[in-house]
Amino acid sequence: MAVGILLVGGFGTRLKPLTNESPKPMLPVAGLPVTEHQILAAKKAGIHTLVLATSYLADVFTPYFGDGSKWGIKILYAVEKEPLGTGGAIRNAAELLGRDEPIVIFNGDVLSRHSIAAQIDFHIAKKADVTLHLIEVEDARAFGCVPTDDSGRVTAFLEKMENPVSRSINAGCYVFSPSVLDEIPLGAVVSIERETFPTLVQSARAVFGYKEQAYWLDVGTPAALFKGSRDLVAGDFVLMPGAVVAPTARITGGSAIGADTVVEAGAVIIDCIIGNNVRVGEGAQLSHCFVAHGTHVPAAAIKESIYLSATAELPISL
Ligand code: GDD
Ligand code: MG
Repeated sequence: MAVGILLVGGFGTRLKPLTNESPKPMLPVAGLPVTEHQILAAKKAGIHTLVLATSYLADVFTPYFGDGSKWGIKILYAVEKEPLGTGGAIRNAAELLGRDEPIVIFNGDVLSRHSIAAQIDFHIAKKADVTLHLIEVEDARAFGCVPTDDSGRVTAFLEKMENPVSRSINAGCYVFSPSVLDEIPLGAVVSIERETFPTLVQSARAVFGYKEQAYWLDVGTPAALFKGSRDLVAGDFVLMPGAVVAPTARITGGSAIGADTVVEAGAVIIDCIIGNNVRVGEGAQLSHCFVAHGTHVPAAAIKESIYLSATAELPISL
């Protein structure tokens, strides 16, 4: 058994304007918030308690996830008044957890189908202090570059470098042995990537890489969020419960239609993320659009690559 921490406090700057009114982890992907996909994966791996480490737009999470009983998992909340960075957030959130089980930490913007349970088993078998999930990418520059030796031991942690020394990157899911938490000061702004990991590696602590090349995506940009949603939809479209689509409407391109949304006659929706309680008026044509929860799209509107909410209409670059 294990406990977990979800890092959901970043500003989501690269996802603007989608994150103007919603924190990045609450943006819908194939009809469900990114965080909900992660909670389902954590539950499947036997994690029984999860702390959401929140900061930016913190109050959005509690009404949705409550105490977690709907998902069969205990959910707690740690709120940072000012963002503490990834390391500071982990230490702050860990104050709500016991110190007798491994702690699994998740970046809150990653969709991954790797086996978290296998990663925990690997961590225990190696008697590791920290075990990082690693994947290989073509271009490692935007990530934490993590070379390992033949035994799987991490030999360096190099966050976002211009000339990466390896294609193996930090995939944003870590298993910590509880004692490692003492390496992070409480109440301070700390980057786990730029401070804690390099220090642990330099001081020869047992930091291991768990390599599993499963489906993986950081949904940190609008293009990536749309790709993640299309990948999960895996067909023309998905309709969430209570959604109603007129028979003459056409939905395609891996679109996601949120719960209780109404799509009226003749509307055309191509590669869109449509939130909950939206009304798409008669004959509207939307392609590559993100429509926030509760928005009314007027009849006959024609929009392409646009973010639509009840109060805003802004271009998105995809
Ligand atoms: N609570 C809290 N407080 N969460 C934070 C804070 C904070 O101050 N700062 C960032 N986060 C959360 C973000 O919301 C996100 O879920 C996660 O920490 C990682 O931050 P990003 O801003 O998404 O980082 P990144 O994508 O540039 O890089 C990270 O992820 C890569 C994999 O996707 C790093 O961990 C890289 O090493 C890694 O390769
Ligand atoms: Mg990210």
